[in-house]
Amino acid sequence: MSASASPYRNRTTIRGEDGRPTRANCPTPRARARRDPARDRGLPACDRQRAQAGFDLVEIHGAHGYLLHQFLAADSNLRDDVYGGSLENRARLMLEVTDAVVGAWSADRVGVRISPIGSFNGTTDPAGEEAGLYVARELGQRNPAFLHLSEPDWAGGPELTDDYRRSLREAHPGVIVGAGNYDAAKASRLLSEGLIDAAAFGRSFIANPDLPRRLEEGLPLNAPVPDTFYGGDHSGYTDYPAHA
Ligand SMILES: Cc1cc2nc3c(=O)[nH]c(=O)nc-3n(C[C@H](O)[C@H](O)[C@H](O)COP(=O)(O)O)c2cc1C
Repeated sequence: MSASASPYRNRTTIRGEDGRPTRANCPTPRARARRDPARDRGLPACDRQRAQAGFDLVEIHGAHGYLLHQFLAADSNLRDDVYGGSLENRARLMLEVTDAVVGAWSADRVGVRISPIGSFNGTTDPAGEEAGLYVARELGQRNPAFLHLSEPDWAGGPELTDDYRRSLREAHPGVIVGAGNYDAAKASRLLSEGLIDAAAFGRSFIANPDLPRRLEEGLPLNAPVPDTFYGGDHSGYTDYPAHA
């Protein structure tokens, strides 16, 4: 299911016959109906207890070519109802979902992840920069716990320019978390220039169970092993050593 029944230009990871992760094609999705009885019947009420589920925060995934991003992106949303066409319409579902989750808990417990530029999982929004600013501004008015900015240069995409970061900061005065190819130097620079409020780490956290300490003390980092990223056994999950 997607915003529209346009072919999914990407592959996904599944478990192969040998039990190892392997890449597979995805079929063309069907378009989400305004009311989709097949999906909605089993949906639990979004209540406070479910929203919390024992966590401190919940992050809504509006990035990386997943469902909310498929609605936001001009290349994957070909709808002609109030969820398609204009940027305001394409962003509607993401904001409605945010409002629903905030309503079920509270704004300071809800963050939203976006990836305005670059290509993720077959989605490349030609109007991504503008969409990112619009969503950042709209979310800023709701004062969520954070806006999580996924930057694509870790996966071969373009780097965010400082100009664009400044526009995002203007649009969103609340907390901005940056993610993608961060090391101590990149995080420190952007933090000191006020362009982000926190940095998130992916691969270096996978490879370094003691990453905060290593960053704090300037210790060298273990190199991540991409072959074990997506499954298999405990290798690459629990056997990276902490610094002596
Ligand atoms: C093994 C692996 C799995 C990931 N899975 C997801 C995912 O399911 N959803 C998602 O939004 N991002 C996913 N990411 C992207 C990370 O959230 C993050 O944006 C990315 O790793 C860039 O940060 P880094 O340069 O610090 O690794 C994944 C990254 C890695 C390395």
